[in-house]
Amino acid sequence: MTSSTNQFIKPVTTKINSKGNLDIGGCDLVELASGYGTPLYVIDEETLRSICKDYKKAFANYPKTRMMYASKALCTSAVTRILDEEGFGFDTVSAGEIYTVYKSGVNMQHVLFNGSNKTFEELSMALSLDVGRISVDNFYELELLNGAAAAKDKIAHILLRITPGIECHTHEYIQTGHLDSKFGFDLTQIDTAVELIQTKYKNIQLHGLHAHIGSQIFETGIYPDEIEILAREIKRLDEKFNLKLDEINIGGGLGVKYTEKDVPPSTYDIGELIINKLNEVIEKYQIDAPTVFLEPGRSIISTSGVTLYTVGSSKQVPFGTKYVALDGGMADNPRPSMYQAEYVADVANKKEVTLKEKVTLAGRYCESGDILIKNIELPVLDSGDIICVYNTGAYNYSMASNYNRVQKPAMVLVNNGDAHIIVERENLDDLISHDVIPDRLKK
Ligand code: LLP
Repeated sequence: MTSSTNQFIKPVTTKINSKGNLDIGGCDLVELASGYGTPLYVIDEETLRSICKDYKKAFANYPKTRMMYASKALCTSAVTRILDEEGFGFDTVSAGEIYTVYKSGVNMQHVLFNGSNKTFEELSMALSLDVGRISVDNFYELELLNGAAAAKDKIAHILLRITPGIECHTHEYIQTGHLDSKFGFDLTQIDTAVELIQTKYKNIQLHGLHAHIGSQIFETGIYPDEIEILAREIKRLDEKFNLKLDEINIGGGLGVKYTEKDVPPSTYDIGELIINKLNEVIEKYQIDAPTVFLEPGRSIISTSGVTLYTVGSSKQVPFGTKYVALDGGMADNPRPSMYQAEYVADVANKKEVTLKEKVTLAGRYCESGDILIKNIELPVLDSGDIICVYNTGAYNYSMASNYNRVQKPAMVLVNNGDAHIIVERENLDDLISHDVIPDRLKK
């Protein structure tokens, strides 16, 4: 079976260069760290484009596939430009993500707006910008959206997000398709939603159904299960309401390989399974071949990203752990403390050093739980060494905070020996730029 880029821990261009340093995208990571400072997010363009190609090839036999990158994984203007060039559309979940893709020059018909509690202002913005599809999550939103569309004398083109009742084995916090979920219409509520659209909400046009099971998924079987339910519902709605729906959105979720323990399927595995299942349900339910939206986020961007840190202090607990402190941590990568996520790292400037020791890489933030990697074997570390943590492209920068009033890191895009800043490092003035001191407290 052909492998795909989400099955690698490291970016495809990772190598040791002639100086003995770790090198990604043709750029020496030690030089990047000294040139741009640390912590530093690095995105390898070749890896990103390579996974896009894996997805496109895997679904080439089903031409009605629409790839919508889930921007929540990492939403910056340059990354958006690359995905737009690769022919991807965008799944967005906020005014901020919509605005980012809009300002990046994306055709807004290629954008989908998701989310469980969209505001009237966000829905109005999506309508003004002619966002292609809005995936409506609940009854309140149907009413809100119809009002927003009526006020603009527009038709809102929607999908209904449903909860298919499928559980997947991932962290509880990132499961979404099980029955008792906060997302989407329960299967028993779909008919009422359709009746309301047909009789009351004149400014809404329904095109199809949407589901998303969860994230960091390794089980391939859930996609066919999901397609079965979506196709069955489409058939049922046609019979009951004479409603022709020709779009299904099967969400995102394909996993990545953070450590050797993770064995995610390839895009080719899931592509084949999904296409076979689509052909099966088209035949079984005698429905027209639907347009199929996919919303992968993590599997698109995770592997292309690494984070560089500089080693600072270290502490050997007598007869206990050796902690090595980095200049970043839970504010630039909250995943270990939130989900017990595990990562792999290398020392960028000591690839050829053989004397190793087991250490725990601790973050700089004032929390005992701010540990990036527990018990990792690395070359013996000194302060000033550069640590490269792999697979940080997804849900790191997008979930970063300013905890402890620390500036968010910069991000560079590397490709063929070129490095470009794509997100500037925050400075101290950025941190206070939204603060306001009432006159009576001024000095
Ligand atoms: N579509 C919908 C409706 C979603 O809710 C999500 C992710 C995706 C697509 C993209 O899923 P992906 O392909 O990235 O797995 N912060 C967590 C992940 C939360 C995922 C939320 N929804 C983490 O760091 O693991």
